[in-house]
Amino acid sequence: MKILDEVSRTLNEFLLVPSLTTAACTPDNIDLSAPLVRHRVGETSPIRIATPLTSAIMGAVSSPRLAIALAQCGGLSFVHQNQPYAEQAAMVEAVKRHKAGFRFSDINIKPSATLGEVSALLESAERDVAVVTDDGSPHGLFVGLISTDDFHPRRHGLDDSVASRMRAAADLVTAPPSVTLSEANTLIWDHRLDVLPVVDAAGLLHSIVLRRDYELHKRFRNESIDADKRFRVGAGVNTHDYRERIPALVEAGADLLCIDSSDGYSVWQAETLGFVRENYGDDVRIGAGNVVDGRGFRYLAEAGADFVKVGIGGGSICTTREQKGIGRGQASALIDVAAERDAYARETGVYVPLCCDGGLLTDSHMAIAFALGADFVMLGRYFARFDESPSPLVHLGGQFLKEYWGEGSSRARNVSRYEHGGGSRLTFEEGVDGYVPYAGSLYDNVDLTIAKLKATMISCGATDLRGFHDGAVLVPVSQQSFLQNSAEIRLR
Ligand code: IMP
Repeated sequence: MKILDEVSRTLNEFLLVPSLTTAACTPDNIDLSAPLVRHRVGETSPIRIATPLTSAIMGAVSSPRLAIALAQCGGLSFVHQNQPYAEQAAMVEAVKRHKAGFRFSDINIKPSATLGEVSALLESAERDVAVVTDDGSPHGLFVGLISTDDFHPRRHGLDDSVASRMRAAADLVTAPPSVTLSEANTLIWDHRLDVLPVVDAAGLLHSIVLRRDYELHKRFRNESIDADKRFRVGAGVNTHDYRERIPALVEAGADLLCIDSSDGYSVWQAETLGFVRENYGDDVRIGAGNVVDGRGFRYLAEAGADFVKVGIGGGSICTTREQKGIGRGQASALIDVAAERDAYARETGVYVPLCCDGGLLTDSHMAIAFALGADFVMLGRYFARFDESPSPLVHLGGQFLKEYWGEGSSRARNVSRYEHGGGSRLTFEEGVDGYVPYAGSLYDNVDLTIAKLKATMISCGATDLRGFHDGAVLVPVSQQSFLQNSAEIRLR
């Protein structure tokens, strides 16, 4: 037996002490970009993202819609693996089919719906135009457009059909899927359009290009895109069906894979990494985890992991620590693993990035994680709260909430992530099924998070994440200062 000579500490137990802010520390000058995969020290990682946020490998979090929105903001999603691999590959393909500037159509309605229904839809989504498809789906037969300019609730009957007031497809300018973004924008300006529907030869809606996006292009100048200007997307895999799942995901165009497990320090992960190296060399990139100490990191780095994910038991929906008594405070885990990453880089000349996964409840937790050495973070609860997450929005007790459930809950039954020797059955739960407060649009929230991270780095005199980690001065907080902070928060 061995007892570590330390107390297990969480991210909440540290504060950053400011360092000298120099003239170089301006928000425009701060680089939040992060390496995602292993590379030689001094060289650039083959996959980098401008915004160091990734979305959790969870059914309640990472859908194609969220993946596209996050890639637009410079981050990356990992599509969840708790589904047949053909379905997961279809989700990856749905993201890869979208080129930057071409949007998944999210406000759609059937021609037989009423003006009252479309009016309510537009109001709740705070939009002024809906796309009309035969079945009301994002890829149905394109039938027309209807906007708040096409009808007035006092002039037209709210029971009249959408078809009675929409602008029909035959009268609209559309473009084929082969259109480039600059051609699409020329059509938008030449024909004074707000929306350009992209429609395939069979008449099915492919995507839409919005004038608003052209105007917002500056905001999306950090998009995560591949060499063909398609959005980047990652995908979770497991250590059971990887021989079938990985080829399907690679074929679908996944940019990055990650072995999804609550405990990654295992021979099964080394085997899965070996399968990738044998079959694809370095053409397929794959991360592994989760681990909470230097031993776990080194094992996976030596087995070929492209990045290593850190965190056991800290997730907001997680009950692993109560159920199994395993885990480690996220701050202690990061400090240990980051030291091993740097030792490994000095010894081998190879840098293996770290992902801090779980328990990041506030933007300040993210700042502490970067200061302690995370290269990028993975977030579940954070993204589940947004419009773009796939989980249902509910109205309960006067509050808007989004459903959020753990992969180890009986709702998800993710047996490949939580192996208890019960075959296809989950022997006991390691996660809960609950709600998180609805927080609106991903775009606005990610902007806010970026602004806060930059403000923290400015206070600490840093202009990039590595410099932030190297120069960070942190102090553990006492129980008294913790209580003082909490009291101040309660007063607000
Ligand atoms: P959050 O950002 O604190 O909500 O944590 C998300 C992370 O929790 C995920 O990326 C997983 O690593 C982990 N996780 C997901 N589902 C479960 C579960 O049911 N039990 C324990 N951990 C989970």
